[in-house]
Amino acid sequence: MKEDVTLIIMGVTGDLAKRKLLPAIYNLVEKKKLDNFAVIGVSRSENSMSSIIGEAKGFVREQNQNIWDEIERRSKYIWLDFDNPEGYKIFGKSCLEIEKSFKLSGKRIFYLATLPEHFSAIVRNLKKVEVNKHQGDWPKLVFEKPFGHDLSSAQKLNKTILSMFKEKQVYRIDHYLGKELVANISLLRFTNRIFEPLWCKGHIENVQIILNEDLTIGSRGEFYDEYGVLRDMVQSHMFQLLSLIAMESPEKLEGEFVRDKKLEIFKNLEIKDVLLGQYETYNSEKGVSSDSTTPTFAALKISVDTPRWKNTPFFLKTGKALNETKAVIYIKFREVDCLLSKTCPADTNYLIINLKTNEGIALEINTKIPGRIEVEPVKLDFRIKNKYGPNTPEAYESLIEDVISENQYSFVRNDSIEYCWKALEPWLKKKLPIYDYKKGSSGPKELNKWNEKNKVGWRS
Ligand code: BG6
Repeated sequence: MKEDVTLIIMGVTGDLAKRKLLPAIYNLVEKKKLDNFAVIGVSRSENSMSSIIGEAKGFVREQNQNIWDEIERRSKYIWLDFDNPEGYKIFGKSCLEIEKSFKLSGKRIFYLATLPEHFSAIVRNLKKVEVNKHQGDWPKLVFEKPFGHDLSSAQKLNKTILSMFKEKQVYRIDHYLGKELVANISLLRFTNRIFEPLWCKGHIENVQIILNEDLTIGSRGEFYDEYGVLRDMVQSHMFQLLSLIAMESPEKLEGEFVRDKKLEIFKNLEIKDVLLGQYETYNSEKGVSSDSTTPTFAALKISVDTPRWKNTPFFLKTGKALNETKAVIYIKFREVDCLLSKTCPADTNYLIINLKTNEGIALEINTKIPGRIEVEPVKLDFRIKNKYGPNTPEAYESLIEDVISENQYSFVRNDSIEYCWKALEPWLKKKLPIYDYKKGSSGPKELNKWNEKNKVGWRS
């Protein structure tokens, strides 16, 4: 990469920096996509870059000490009270010093990996003290999700940010959009003749998006209890996946063309039914209130009111502390007329997009069982690791690379995020029952009735 860049991680002592951001920077340096750079870690607590880098090492597969040494040499830790404008002056000076010593031009990326409640104060103070005077569309501001807590808070946040910075400078992260197989969805749809004619209500019975996790909420109790599964997973990752499956063909598979087409889906998306659950020991997790009714499991039926999708439901299912971890999209095709005189096909065709572990794409078709006039489903199975090896880019690596090269394609635009909240809003206000489920189970048992009512047979 020709560009030089100053990466400023606000909230560098948090989990995200050590688990994802520093490992992503490591990978970019290793692949020589980042050579002239500085990393400035900012936080409200006492710490040092060398200790944070030490912790980040555990999250990189193969270690090369020289790369870590180089990152450390180019790093600086700055203590900052996010709410105090005075501190930003010293912060600005430190940025200049490090940029001068590495002959950087001052293209700054402020990555806000803090709790969302600090976003507004940080944006205001960055602007007030002019921490960056670079011209053009710099600096860039990257916002970790969740972007807002509901429609009005997201609108307010957008308003604050956009009164000081241009939308071109704003990158709202949804890390699912950086996953290889998610980025593959539109390419799969629009570069293969075989899919597009079938990609509609006439041929697709339903779409199932399943993001199951066997992990509990771990140490994120305080955050999670305020957000819950609908805000944490559905409004963001799941709606984004749905939009990539449902959108119309863009003029080009680039930036605003795709973002415009996705917006059309968010405008026409309606949640028809929801079932919520909570795993049984959730209330005793650290940081969670003992009478919390925050859901940790959700199943949703969604309609997309466009000519392509009328009467083809989208089913979403996600939860914590379940019996498995998987992130899969199943496109279930409709039945064909049975022309066989004895046994008809047991199931219809599926296109299966596996987003996590065993990432890949499979097409399930019926083929003849040797020696019999009968069929059974078999998978044409593509696994990314088998073809391209284990070192395909991690989501955060691709996303940081996109910010550096000013590519907003995989980021969420202000209008989209507001429509997503708008679609969810009525269901956040409803007082729905929250059903218990056992840790390590497949969800609340009430799901069976819900499935019957909504005519969904989840693919396992
Ligand atoms: C995050 C959510 O955005 O995504 C977490 O806040 C969730 O609750 C995580 O566990 C899942 O991401 P991935 O990439 O592990 O599927």
